[in-house]
Amino acid sequence: MTTATEPEPKLRGDSAVDPKDDKRGPRVRAMFAGIARRYDLLNRIISGGRDQAWRRKTVKMAGLRGGEQVLDVCCGTGDLALMFHRAKAKPARVVASDFTPEMLRLSAEKAGRAGISLPLFAGDALHLPLPDACFDVVSVGYGVRNFQDIDAGLRELARVLKPGGRLAILEATPARGLIGRFANWYINRVVPWVGNRLTGSSDRAYSYLADSIQLFPDAAALKARLEAAGFTDVKFRKLNLGTMAIHVGIRAS
Ligand SMILES: C[S@@+](CC[C@H](N)C(=O)[O-])C[C@H]1O[C@@H](n2cnc3c(N)ncnc32)[C@H](O)[C@@H]1O
Repeated sequence: MTTATEPEPKLRGDSAVDPKDDKRGPRVRAMFAGIARRYDLLNRIISGGRDQAWRRKTVKMAGLRGGEQVLDVCCGTGDLALMFHRAKAKPARVVASDFTPEMLRLSAEKAGRAGISLPLFAGDALHLPLPDACFDVVSVGYGVRNFQDIDAGLRELARVLKPGGRLAILEATPARGLIGRFANWYINRVVPWVGNRLTGSSDRAYSYLADSIQLFPDAAALKARLEAAGFTDVKFRKLNLGTMAIHVGIRAS
């Protein structure tokens, strides 16, 4: 989101998916299917080995109380869901979903290797096949940025949360100033170069990553969008020199 004083973000224009396309769901799914096998390796490389620590902080900020029902949407290869599973305050159940079958398969394999029971289902986070108010905690790691309609997605996550339940979002966030310039260089030059090559992504999935971050609301703006979607007590914490943020909000009663 830009203000009158901020220039429109300059997009690379060579992305797998046009992040401004309001019908991009199927293309986003095909793109993630294409990079699924190398997704974890790339995460470790481009985050300098920090991405699991950021997921751990997300679990901590979600403030598990033990015996709760947790849903991780946009679960990808399952790292955040499995992190909830291993939390000290043991959840009663962690369920994970994604709309890319290739990602769900990798989640199932990873949970199986760890001897963890992780119920999985295929579903679009904007239209979850779930009744209202059935989870205590909902989490999304690096998923909200891909939603075709962020506000509709946040309202859908609020719908499946019990009143008083918490939403935890881990997401890349556009950074400003000197750090922002460095982050933009890294995300626009280094990440697509490494990512597109290592995944063999002919459709330039890692160019999309750069463009989608540029268009994503900054942390304060995302807080306001969460409040508009029905969350209270929204707090965020910035990480990695302000290039990542964890937001937590409570579903209003
Ligand atoms: C960048 S990956 C994040 C995976 C994982 N949460 C993590 O922490 O690494 C984004 C995932 O969100 C999924 N996704 C994107 N939009 C979605 C939507 N509308 N509904 C369900 N899954 C979606 C993609 O298939 C992909 O697996």
